[in-house]
Amino acid sequence: MNRLQLNKKDFTPQKSQKKLISIISGKGGVGKSVIVFNLADTLSRMGKKVLIVDADVNFGNQHVLANINVDYGFKQFAKSELSLKEAIVKVSDNVDMLASTNSIGLFEEIDIATIANCINRIRTESTEYDFVLIDHSSGVNKHSSVMAYGSDIVITVLVPELTSISDSYGLFKYLHDINSNLECRFLVNRATTSDEAEYIYSKLCAVAERFVESIPRYFGYLKENDDFRKSVASQKTLFNSVPASTSFSELNVLAHKLLGTKTPFGQINSFERINKTAATADIKE
Ligand SMILES: Nc1ncnc2c1ncn2[C@@H]1O[C@H](COP(=O)(O)OP(=O)(O)OP(=O)(O)O)[C@@H](O)[C@H]1O
Ligand SMILES: [Mg+2]
Repeated sequence: MNRLQLNKKDFTPQKSQKKLISIISGKGGVGKSVIVFNLADTLSRMGKKVLIVDADVNFGNQHVLANINVDYGFKQFAKSELSLKEAIVKVSDNVDMLASTNSIGLFEEIDIATIANCINRIRTESTEYDFVLIDHSSGVNKHSSVMAYGSDIVITVLVPELTSISDSYGLFKYLHDINSNLECRFLVNRATTSDEAEYIYSKLCAVAERFVESIPRYFGYLKENDDFRKSVASQKTLFNSVPASTSFSELNVLAHKLLGTKTPFGQINSFERINKTAATADIKE
C-alpha cells in the first residue's frame, strides 16, 4: 500500500545516474551528519565536486560541523525564495552546502508537493556537482521519505545495537513497502571490527529476507574511533583535525563505492551485496 499516496513515477530516479544520496537512520545519533560531512570531504579530495544538503530542518548541524555562520539555506530554497546557487554556501574548494538554519517547523509549513518539487529542483539545479549528499533527521516523516524516494540511493546508517538494527529493519520495510525499487544500502557505523559489521548486516538480511522478501545491500562500515569526536569538537573535517586518523582508509573505501571505482587495495567497490547465507535472526517483525 502506498501510505504516502505518492505517485511512484514522480520519484523514480534515473538509474544510470547515482548522484543524489540520502543518508537516513531509524535511531538518532548514529553518525549520519558526521559521515555526510566527512564523505563529502573525502570525495572532494578525489577531485569530485560535492553538495551537502542538510535536510534535518529542525536540528540541522552541518554548518556547525563546518564552522560556518549562515542564516539562509534549505528553508529559503524549499520555499522557492532562493535558487540553489543563491542558497548555498561554500565550505571548501570542492564542497558547497545547503545549510539548515532557523528552519524549525519547516516541514509543518510546507506540503508534500512542495518538498517533492524541492528534491526535483535539487536534481535539476545541481548539474555542476558530481554528488549531492543529503543529511536527514532520524526516524520517519513524510517529507524525509519523499526526499529519500527522490534520491538515487538511500544509505541507512546503523550501529551495532539491537535497537538500532531493529529500527533500521523497520525503516527499510517502511520504505520498501512504498517503493520496492528504491536502492537501499546499509552502513554499519561504530563497529568494533569489519566482521562485526558484516555480522550485523547479515542479521538484517535474515529478517528482511523473511518478512520483506528482499535483501538490502551492504554499503560498508566505519569502526568506532574517537577521532570523530575530536573532529566534531574542533569543527573541522577528520582530515583537517586528525591527519593521521585510521578512519581515512574506511572513508576512502566508502567513497570508492559511491564512485564505483577500485580501492587502493584492488577490489572493485560498486554496490556489492555480501554473498553470505543470512544468519538466523533474533529480530521479529
Ligand atoms: N565511527 C565513530 N566512532 C566514534 N564516534 C562516532 C563515530 N561516528 C559518529 N560518532 C560520534 O557520534 C556523534 C553523533 O553523530 P551525528 O551527529 O553525526 O549523528 P546523527 O545520526 O547525525 O544524529 P541525529 O540523528 O541527531 O541527526 C558525533 O558527534 C561523533 O562524536
Ligand atoms: Mg544529524
